Amino acid sequence: MTCRLLRQGCVGLLPTLIVLTLGCARLSAQSSVTIRQELGSVAATSNSRDGHTGDAACIACHKKLATSYLQTAHHLTSQSPGNDSILGSFAPVSNTLPIAGPGADDSKTRLYFLMEAKEEGFYQTAVAESGARKLTRSERIDIVVGSGVRGQTYLYWHGNQLYELPVSYWTEGHRWINSPGYKDGTANFGRRAAPRCMECHATYIRALSADPQTNLYEKDSLVLGISCESCHGPGVPHVALERSAPGSQAAAAAVLNPSRWTRDRQIELCALCHNGTQREELLPAFSYVPGKPLDQFFAPAPIGAASQIDVHGNQVGLLQQSRCYLSSSTMTCATCHDVHSPEQKAASYSDRCLLCHRWQICGMARKIGGRIVENCIDCHMPMQETEAIVSVTAGKILHTSIRNHRIAIYPGQ
Ligand code: HEC
Ligand code: HEC
Ligand code: HEC
Ligand code: HEC
Ligand code: HEC
Ligand code: HEC
Ligand code: HEC
Repeated sequence: MTCRLLRQGCVGLLPTLIVLTLGCARLSAQSSVTIRQELGSVAATSNSRDGHTGDAACIACHKKLATSYLQTAHHLTSQSPGNDSILGSFAPVSNTLPIAGPGADDSKTRLYFLMEAKEEGFYQTAVAESGARKLTRSERIDIVVGSGVRGQTYLYWHGNQLYELPVSYWTEGHRWINSPGYKDGTANFGRRAAPRCMECHATYIRALSADPQTNLYEKDSLVLGISCESCHGPGVPHVALERSAPGSQAAAAAVLNPSRWTRDRQIELCALCHNGTQREELLPAFSYVPGKPLDQFFAPAPIGAASQIDVHGNQVGLLQQSRCYLSSSTMTCATCHDVHSPEQKAASYSDRCLLCHRWQICGMARKIGGRIVENCIDCHMPMQETEAIVSVTAGKILHTSIRNHRIAIYPGQ
């Protein structure tokens, strides 16, 4: 297919590569025949947004809960570009990222990315300078992905196609880096943003093709951030009843409340996005209905895949390996996390351990004494560096650390 060829065209060796990739968008604009063909199969993915009302309605009545929700990483996980939402710097010098890699030290050619805040928006530009010749490829940041706990990646629209930008922001060190999975030494603007990416990082976008790798969307359908209805389902019936019969049982029953589901259904709501990415999909992105068994939407991950940790952590798989989870019937993600409030300091979660354990039972209690209650977390859920490569920037490999959700006894802790 045209697009696959295109993508391959985007990876290669410098300096040919720069020229090739800088030309990519022009080429993809010409693939409108393919686009029209894909548009023909829209019906297959027409999951409806009927009954959804948006966060504003919920905020009106659930003020306290909703105000704290607005500060959470879930709510902020995708945003419109702005001075507040983009965390990377546009100040001179720190707005430049040199492109390292084969050929980059060739003194005749200078390759770099430039991040600029202009009146029309925020731009990433790849520049290849060789003597008097200067080649550039510039795209505007249209969507910010990531609240910035670890970092952010940016997306741009080309017509109704959505692509990832080559430069991301890395919170540790407050700096620009090559986007995850991008080859160092390349300026690739041709990486498509697929519906699954949006499913985990936004409330909704309508794909214009059934192809799971498509990047064709109805632009205006995009609803940024994860919203109340992502977890509570369509809110129109509940809102209507709370207005006509406030506080009634019927009104409460008209909205999904995960705490009333079985433990499996509760965990599956989180597993939609917190289960790593290794599984086979049975239905297109945004088909999932909270409270329905997740195996109607995904086939189980291949054996062995569940234990893999990548930058998109697999908290569900790891927690489910814990004796705490296996030996109790009540532990869910909500035992520790209130998704309506921003995260607290890790150590403060220790009081959740004490819901089920007496501190005296810990083998270390005799050594440490009563002050052991201040921090059960770092010994039993240590931060660990993952094998997954986040970025290769300027020849250096960046990894990240994640909180291991297998609650256990770790040697050396
Ligand atoms: C007109 C006011 C009103 C609006 C608008 C409203 N709610 Fe409610 N909601 C209530 C009241 C009152 C209750 C019952 C008391 C409580 O739990 O806070 C309730 C209860 C709930 C519950 C718990 C139901 C249960 O099982 O007991 C959930 C979940 C909920 N609302 C979610 C939402 C969401 C999501 C939205 C936006 C789509 C929303 N509400 C909009 C008034 C409202
Ligand atoms: C629609 C996808 C989605 C669902 C459903 C979801 N999450 Fe998340 N969650 C995310 C994403 C994406 C992030 C990273 C947000 C960011 O920092 O940009 C995240 C981050 C988090 C964090 C870290 C927040 C922080 O401040 O670092 C916690 C804790 C969390 N989720 C718990 C849960 C729990 C518990 C559930 C189930 C009740 C759940 N999530 C359901 C997508 C989801
Ligand atoms: C299966 C769901 C899923 C998919 C698909 C997914 N992500 Fe994520 N992403 C997450 C979760 C969950 C986190 C929070 C990290 C964690 O688990 O600790 C996250 C974290 C991130 C972060 C860091 C956020 C922060 O605040 O530090 C970025 C940036 C990001 N994802 C970008 C993307 C992009 C771009 C795509 C698609 C090309 C994508 N992700 C696909 C679920 C997903
Ligand atoms: C990531 C998923 C997620 C999102 C987003 C989310 N909720 Fe919830 N909500 C839950 C879960 C899970 C529970 C059940 C918590 C429990 O088991 O204690 C819940 C419970 C509730 C309840 C019942 C409260 C109670 O204490 O009994 C209300 C009301 C509610 N949510 C409203 C909202 C509103 C309003 C928003 C948006 C501002 C929102 N939720 C966003 C997952 C979510
Ligand atoms: C919902 C109840 C519950 C919560 C909350 C809970 N645990 Fe457990 N935990 C258990 C049960 C039940 C066992 C199994 C005990 C047994 O079989 O004797 C267990 C076992 C353990 C073990 C032994 C693990 C092993 O592999 O041998 C450790 C360590 C532990 N828990 C630490 C913690 C820590 C630390 C926390 C807080 C982060 C925590 N637990 C929270 C219920 C819980
Ligand atoms: C026994 C308590 C406990 C349970 C149960 C639990 N978590 Fe956590 N979780 C934590 C602690 C502690 C942290 C670290 C918070 C921090 O560093 O500020 C954390 C962090 C996270 C993060 C941020 C990851 C990171 O590395 O920064 C995500 C995402 C998350 N949890 C999701 C989940 C999901 C999904 C579930 C259910 C499958 C779950 N958690 C169940 C205690 C728990
Ligand atoms: C300094 C690290 C450290 C801290 C802090 C710590 N633990 Fe432990 N914990 C251990 C080690 C090591 C063991 C295994 C010791 C042994 O078997 O003698 C253990 C064992 C346990 C066990 C299993 C006991 C058994 O006999 O199966 C539980 C439950 C437990 N810890 C809970 C906790 C709780 C709850 C806290 C916080 C109040 C906590 N731990 C704080 C290191 C720690």
